[in-house]
Formats: sequence, structure tokens, C-alpha cells
Amino acid sequence: MLCLLDNLAVPVPDVPRLMRLNLPYEIKIVPLVIAIDGPAGAGKSTVAQQLASALGLPYVDSGATYRAAALKVLEMGIPPRLEDRIVELLAAMSLEGRAGAETFRVLLDGRDVTREIRSPEVTQLASVISRIPGVRQALVALQRKFVSERGVVMEGRDIGTVVFPGAALKVFLTASPLERARRRMGDEKGRGVSLEEVAQEIQQRDRRDSERIVSPLVPAPDATLIDSTGLSAGEVVQRILQRLEEMNLISRTDRRQE
Ligand code: DC
Repeated sequence: MLCLLDNLAVPVPDVPRLMRLNLPYEIKIVPLVIAIDGPAGAGKSTVAQQLASALGLPYVDSGATYRAAALKVLEMGIPPRLEDRIVELLAAMSLEGRAGAETFRVLLDGRDVTREIRSPEVTQLASVISRIPGVRQALVALQRKFVSERGVVMEGRDIGTVVFPGAALKVFLTASPLERARRRMGDEKGRGVSLEEVAQEIQQRDRRDSERIVSPLVPAPDATLIDSTGLSAGEVVQRILQRLEEMNLISRTDRRQE
């Protein structure tokens, strides 16, 4: 396991002070760790990216680390049932995350795979291998390293329950199954699949993610639940910012962009 962590590099940029002067909000207590969890298609990425940008925090997509591991497994042709081999493979590969406001780039063995990991094959396999305890243990250790001095906005399935149980704010974002399928259709233009097929894939993934024994997809007991059905990403972000203000964790600066 030690060897694995040696292979995982995590440069987390901090927002320079001068740039922070233009931010609409000021963070009162650092590091401010915000967890955004929820099922596929609930709108987590857009919300987490916009929130990170408003607060000047790095944005981290934890799902991208499971996807990069899945891509490596695909490339090496290892069957998902050979769990020990998969964990060994993780130990031998180098996985690097580059967190910035609104972007999260992933380098696998030095190669930028940020786009490649969005393929349907990788999507399916990421959900399958994320059930393997050794895979989760390694990737959770990596994800914890992404906190900058000022904090982080991290999206995933178990950020508020496992990765950062002490996060200052935990949001569990949901949306109706139909709305989630529609949003995924928008993301997957050109794949030639129907709304029903996308809805079915989402349901299958939900079931796998919620029923797995290690870190299932469930809201933390202290999570703020937000149903984003019928809401724009901007409206959800405003609700989260309002909640952070109520909790006295952030305050508006006079540069707030309306
Ligand atoms: O968010 P995403 O669709 O990119 O995630 C891909 C898969 O990774 C998802 O099916 C389940 C897994 N995952 C996880 O188990 N825990 C996380 N924190 C994030 C993703």
C-alpha cells in the first residue's frame, strides 16, 4: 500500500492573494471543506465547479480517480473479478490529479486522460471496480490529499460519509430519475442512445453504487439535502452559498457579482 501512495502525486494550487480580492465571497474559517455527494446526473459537477469558482477553492472530481483506475484496468485487459490483480495494478500505476477552480485534470502514467475517462466503457467499469475495498482504500487516501490551505470543493458519492466526515458543509444533491436522464442525454450528445437507455443505465449504476457493501451511496446524517429538479445549477449554488453564510463560514465581499 505504501508503494501505491508513492505513485500518487497531488499538486494542489492555492488561489493567489491578489486574485482572491476579486472574489464575491470571503472564507471566514480555513480550510473550508465542502462535500457534494449524490447520484449520477444530479448536477454535482456543474454545481461543485461554480461553487469552487465563487469561493476561490480547488474543485476535485473524485469520480475521475475511479474512472482513471478503470481505464488502466481496461487497457491492461484485467477481468473485473480478479480483484487482487486490480489492486496490484493500482499500486504499479501513477495517477496524478491537477485540481483548479472549475477544472480537474487527471494524468495516468503521465498521460492526460481527462477526456478519455468519459467513455461509456470506462463509466460502466468505474462503477464495478469502485466496489473493491482495496481500490477504495487507495483512492480515498489520494482524494484526502487534495485539500489546499484554503480548503476544497469535492464531489462524489462518499465524500461527506467517508473521505471527509468532518467537512464543514455536506450537500447531498438529488433530482428525479427523468431529469437526471435528460441531463445525461445532454452530456452524451452524439452517442445515439435513447432517453430510456440512458435512464436504464443510470438506474443500474444507482443500484450498484447504493447497494455496495463498502461506502454505499447514502447521505451523511448531517447532510443538507437539495433536490435540483426544476432548478438551474446557478440556483442550487445560490442556496449553498446562502447556507454557508447562515453557518457563518463565508461572508460577501463588496465585489459580489450579481
Ligand atoms: O461521478 P462519476 O460518474 O464520474 O463516478 C464514476 C463511478 O465512480 C461511479 O459509478 C461510482 C464511483 N465513485 C465512487 O464510488 N465514489 C466516489 N466518491 C465517486 C465515484
